[in-house]
Amino acid sequence: MAEFVLPANSKIGTGKSWPKPDAATTTKTFRVYRWNPDDGENPRVDTFEVDVENCGPMVLDALIKIKNEIDPTLTFRRSCREGVCGSCAMNIDGTNTLACTKYVSDVEGEVKIYPLPHMPVVKDLVPDLTHIYAQYTSIEPWLKAETPAPERERLQSPEERAKLDGLWECILCFSCSTSCPSYWWNGDRYLGPAILLQAYRWIADSRDEATGERLDQLEDPFRLYRCHTIMNCTKTCPKGLNPAKAIAEIKRLMVERKG
Ligand code: SF4
Ligand code: FES
Repeated sequence: MAEFVLPANSKIGTGKSWPKPDAATTTKTFRVYRWNPDDGENPRVDTFEVDVENCGPMVLDALIKIKNEIDPTLTFRRSCREGVCGSCAMNIDGTNTLACTKYVSDVEGEVKIYPLPHMPVVKDLVPDLTHIYAQYTSIEPWLKAETPAPERERLQSPEERAKLDGLWECILCFSCSTSCPSYWWNGDRYLGPAILLQAYRWIADSRDEATGERLDQLEDPFRLYRCHTIMNCTKTCPKGLNPAKAIAEIKRLMVERKG
């Protein structure tokens, strides 16, 4: 019988526990995934007691406080701290989301923090995004038009512009793709919800003249059709977008152009 076990070097060990800070009256426990490629050790989960009375309200504030005041080796990405750059995406309390828009007070009990699931890890909470950015490049995410550019901008009607709502807001945090079982198992060839939403953003753009070429690129058993409408993507998107709908629209256009 097949036995499914983690490779020995993937087993998560018990990490270091940092004591409650002196003088703190109200603390919250943070359990944070740690892995350092340079020390040859297995991953571990460290436990930090954070003085939440003297900390900003978001999970990112707590991580910055831990890095500044407890363990400067803790590694994570962040930039804008207001939900627009996508760099602080991680798995918090079992859900992929943005650390900068997730309230600590929304988590009952201990705050468990892991990197985005099923991605290679660079260090601690930093996933390796090389492959998913190569997939992004593959959909050629820019306006393609043969018509000579007018002297001023290429115009759209308000109705045409409205078709991009729900698409342009995507911040490429990849919370959706890394919550998708199809992407976990077939991410080498399946583009996943984030990249397909981006592909549809250009297909839906009235100024773009490469719709046929873009659909040809996606007409593939893996690139598009590994989507099985599981809907984790839409459930998890921290910007409230609906990648599953964008994928359904692409599938609809595929059928329409055959008819
Ligand atoms: S669709 Fe939402 S979850 Fe997916 S990459 Fe864009 S913003 Fe992130
Ligand atoms: S830091 Fe930019 S989205 Fe969180």
